[in-house]
Amino acid sequence: MSDSAKRPIIFSGIQPSGELTLGHIAGALRNWVALQRDYECYFCIVDMHAITVRQVPANLRRWTLDCAAMYLATGIQPEQATIFVQSHVPAHAELAWVLSTLTGFGEASRMTQFKEKSEQHAHNINVGLFTYPILMAADILLYQADLVPVGEDQKQHVELTRDLAQRFNNIYSPTFAVPEPYIPRYGARLMSLQDPHKKMSKSDPNRNATIFLVDDNDAIQRKIQRAVTDSGTTIEYDPENRPGISNLIEIYHLATDEPIEAIVERCREWTYSQFKAAVAEALVAYVEPVRTRFQQIRSDEASLASLLLSGAERAARVAQRTLRKVYRKIGFWSPKD
Ligand code: TYM
Repeated sequence: MSDSAKRPIIFSGIQPSGELTLGHIAGALRNWVALQRDYECYFCIVDMHAITVRQVPANLRRWTLDCAAMYLATGIQPEQATIFVQSHVPAHAELAWVLSTLTGFGEASRMTQFKEKSEQHAHNINVGLFTYPILMAADILLYQADLVPVGEDQKQHVELTRDLAQRFNNIYSPTFAVPEPYIPRYGARLMSLQDPHKKMSKSDPNRNATIFLVDDNDAIQRKIQRAVTDSGTTIEYDPENRPGISNLIEIYHLATDEPIEAIVERCREWTYSQFKAAVAEALVAYVEPVRTRFQQIRSDEASLASLLLSGAERAARVAQRTLRKVYRKIGFWSPKD
């Protein structure tokens, strides 16, 4: 057995439904990078989740490659991690079907993201949007993941995944690892720059609300300068009562790695505009090299294609092993058993 086979396992993914944002780095990518050396990692581009909202096909194709390039640009090492596209591994859809037969209707109805998304997409509340967390559970369970590094908004889905794994293990016999969510202390829910009560999102119609990783330096400066802050005057970290300035403090922490307490200590008496200037400068320095690497990597589609092809082959082997076990346990007859 190779060394990597003994390491605990991580699974996580991002939807290729738009340009990636600073929120994706804060809640997901930077933690994937930090953990990748100690875990066997599967980082997926979840295109099947993306179609729960109507997509323009050409955009979906483009964003799928963008997403792979951004994984690499933020520091994911293809030697450490398996990077692949969800729809290239049919076992995801197959296990999702099995798990859907173990999920209660009421249980699925309680998912808060479904409730939010059905409000946002009231004209297209499709069944896929409803069963979306079950597909996510299938993603995670196929790889026997121990840890799932995600932002705060995905926590409830990982809890459902744990419940489904335990349920299956109890009904049949131990089959799935029961995964833990990994939610970072800071940056688990980066907020909109225009409304600090809302999550920063790639689909926010107001482009000023979101830092995109492909934003140029001027756009980053401008968005931070225009960020909505609170009525206070001091630089204090209090997400409950001072969400605007607290969000900027988290962004500063993300960009510089300076501890939150140290930032507050050092900058407490600064004016908002002084602090915003410092955040903008630090963020430009943080995003610029990511953007440059992204542009280089993205321009070589042949290399990306070969990476995703070999990633899918590796992932499919692992996923197929779990799926075969599941099919055998539930009683699907196969001439190979
Ligand atoms: P998605 O594509 O919405 O977001 C990908 C990851 O980025 C995190 N994130 C944020 N974190 C902090 N602040 C923000 N503003 C912010 N915006 C996004 C998300 O929490 C997430 O970790 N259902 C998932 C994708 C998925 C998945 C999986 C994740 C499908 N299967 C299996 C983990 C394991 C989603 O829609 O994430």
